[in-house]
Amino acid sequence: MLLRGAVCALFVLQVVPLLARETRGHVSVVLVGATGDLARKYLWQGLFQLYLDEVSHGHTFTFHGGAQSEPKRGRKVMYERLKDLACPPEVSPDRCAVLKDQFLKLTEYHQLKTKQDYAALNREIQTVLAQEGLEEAGRIFYLSVPPFAYAEIAGHINSSCRPPPGAWLRVALEKPFGHDLKSAQELAESLKAFFREEEIYRVDHYLGKQAVAHILPFREQNRQHLEPLWNRHHVERVEIVLKETVDVKNRTSFYEEYGVVRDILQNHLTEVLMFLAMELPENVGNAEDVLRSKLQTFASLRGLEKNSAVMGQYEAYNRHVREELQKGLDYFSSTPTFAGVLVQLDNLRWEGVPFILASGKVLDERVGYVRVLFKNRAYCAQHEAAWDPGQSHCKPRQVVFYVGHGELNSPAVLVSRNLFRPAMPRGSWKEVQDRTHLRLFGQPLSDYYLYVPAVERDAYSVLISQIYHGKKDVFITTENLLASWAFWTPLLANWASESPRLYPGGRENGPLLDFEVVGGEVRFVTKEAVQVMAPGDQQTPGDYKTIQSRFRQSQLVTAWSEELIARLASDIEVAALKAVQRSGVFHFALSGGSSPLALFKQLAWHHYGFPWRQTHVWLVDERCVPLADPESNFGNLHEHLLRHVRVPYFNVHPMPVHVHQRLCVEEDQGPALYAREIAALVANSSLDLVLLGVGRDGHTASLFPRSPVGLDGQEPDVVFTESPSKPHQRMTFSLALINKAKRVAVLVLGKGKHEIVTVVSRAGHEPQKWPISGVKPSSGQLAWYVDYEALLG
Ligand SMILES: *[C@@H]1O[C@H](CO)[C@@H](O)[C@H](O)[C@H]1NC(C)=O
Ligand SMILES: *[C@@H]1O[C@H](CO)[C@@H](O)[C@H](O)[C@H]1NC(C)=O
Ligand SMILES: *[C@@H]1O[C@H](CO)[C@@H](O)[C@H](O)[C@H]1NC(C)=O
Repeated sequence: MLLRGAVCALFVLQVVPLLARETRGHVSVVLVGATGDLARKYLWQGLFQLYLDEVSHGHTFTFHGGAQSEPKRGRKVMYERLKDLACPPEVSPDRCAVLKDQFLKLTEYHQLKTKQDYAALNREIQTVLAQEGLEEAGRIFYLSVPPFAYAEIAGHINSSCRPPPGAWLRVALEKPFGHDLKSAQELAESLKAFFREEEIYRVDHYLGKQAVAHILPFREQNRQHLEPLWNRHHVERVEIVLKETVDVKNRTSFYEEYGVVRDILQNHLTEVLMFLAMELPENVGNAEDVLRSKLQTFASLRGLEKNSAVMGQYEAYNRHVREELQKGLDYFSSTPTFAGVLVQLDNLRWEGVPFILASGKVLDERVGYVRVLFKNRAYCAQHEAAWDPGQSHCKPRQVVFYVGHGELNSPAVLVSRNLFRPAMPRGSWKEVQDRTHLRLFGQPLSDYYLYVPAVERDAYSVLISQIYHGKKDVFITTENLLASWAFWTPLLANWASESPRLYPGGRENGPLLDFEVVGGEVRFVTKEAVQVMAPGDQQTPGDYKTIQSRFRQSQLVTAWSEELIARLASDIEVAALKAVQRSGVFHFALSGGSSPLALFKQLAWHHYGFPWRQTHVWLVDERCVPLADPESNFGNLHEHLLRHVRVPYFNVHPMPVHVHQRLCVEEDQGPALYAREIAALVANSSLDLVLLGVGRDGHTASLFPRSPVGLDGQEPDVVFTESPSKPHQRMTFSLALINKAKRVAVLVLGKGKHEIVTVVSRAGHEPQKWPISGVKPSSGQLAWYVDYEALLG
């Protein structure tokens, strides 16, 4: 045993004497975590496959398994795991036995715990090389250990196990690579101290799945057919799905920290999304080109908001957590085990195309697929029975990368016959025509060109081979990793205190987890039965509404916020239609702040009869920032309303806060400019509708308490003001201009406004103290839209 290293190296020379003469050098592969679960299930088999594939191509190998256990025990456990190694079907049993025997003789166990252990490993590698007169080509370290151990092991490898100059070092790591953006950055920093970027191979095993690995090559080989189709004009939607039937029993200590978004979506599904959505690089085999294209695509992802996702948790999960983590009965986990997320890209190719990412545990089936569904524009005059699958424009048209399991139970690439016959690499993929009894995504398999791998290969063996060949395009670089975390972290933060919907699991889920995309958001299709307030409670909102239908001598509309916004939106639509009927145009002035955002959505997505073409949009107030700044009211208005509706460009009137390359300078006279623009287009400067909010301090528009201008009800119509809390100056309508309007609506939402609502309900006309109290249209109407929370607290 002691001489094992030397013996096995001699063995290399004896077994492949011819090749040894032309050897391209020796490769040492070190598997750290050699007795673990992943090693047993996949990694040893992957290394064996590497040996089978490569031993006749010029390199010689030794394999080193390392773990914490002392040598005798560790060796025993490791060899136990090596017993199950299998050869591919084309290798005869006799030959397989010989190859396995060779592999075992080249494999040695090491206790790898301390710095000295790593130094000893290094000496052993050097001794073998020296004794056999072998050139060292390089070393692969595959770390299959929990991430908290990375830094220490990385330190040992760097200080004791680096190969000499001229030979390469490749270190493969398994996820998780952090928990959010910050922790991922820290982990990346700590690795960077020991390794160069090109030495780090972050493994996302999903990218080794044959169907996933073929997405980019498929796009390239079928560029001619796909290029005209692979865009928003033709693609209806894209689904990236990984469904599992297993639960997370015995893994809750991990899972409770991560949840499905971190475990599956942030890495596997996001990477697949990139392969589908990226601009095809010049050379899809070039890691740098692929990375550049990927990073561009990350940059065009629209930020996720809370309503970009629906989340679920299987019902038994909480019990598993309580049992395994010794939590009390009052413990309720909010960790999602199911997530459906809508991802959108703001670029010319994909704008408006929903990319749906979905994954979950304890679902009805185990399957992974990527489905690109194309729009169908044709109307077919003939009966369905006459539709020819190869010709008909009426059948669904889709491209599917079937990752595995499910009904097909193998990886596959499917292309609807009415799209095109794809070019597939001969040798590695073969066409299948005999499985016509199955149906997939609503169509019989006979409607598709169907290809499966000529030889099925496990993802890990694919990736191990890529590491060996130094092909980095299917590994996750630091920039790639951080871009992905930067994308997902805000959603995770938004959901941190939300409760996922509970689901029973398996087939019993029924339609409970079905979700739909509506107005740029996702939501469950079936509503959960929730009881908001029992009838007979004191202060039943319905009663209140009838008592308090006036507020400060004006009309009051009150309801739960969602209902209230719907009501305000339809009141606005009615006002708009009346104005257009009367005068041909509707002059609408909108405020900034967060309250109107929900209103904008409502208007954009639910009011198809709105006369947008005849509408002029004005700003009640604006911050002194460039229009593209996230703080800009106009920017928000554009983002949440204008880009979704058809207001002619020349009817849109942002405030001129940015004049002569500077922001809000008195001598540029921006306020006077805006007042003149209003006067030029609006008779008597009397706007049809002005929408206002109220701040907790009683401010409205950007008219703050004790503002020296704008509050006295006299001209000018537009002024500069200053917010007491924020550094920026503002431009704003004055009370004079607001009170000329035909209609003013004040929208007040949320508990946070209860106090000011109470104060204002009693206040007299005191605009210096409470600017909102100065809103009193001279000949127009004022209406208050106050939700129950603001009204009742
Ligand atoms: C990595 O190893 C080199 C060579 O032993 C050493 O000089 C360097 O300090 C090590 N890096 C770190 C961060 O320990
Ligand atoms: C969980 O662990 C227990 C005890 O180690 C074992 O008996 C059981 O089979 C495990 N269950 C699963 C689902 O792995
Ligand atoms: C403008 O003001 C004048 C005088 O107050 C009034 O007669 C006229 O009706 C107003 N026009 C509009 C369109 O409000």
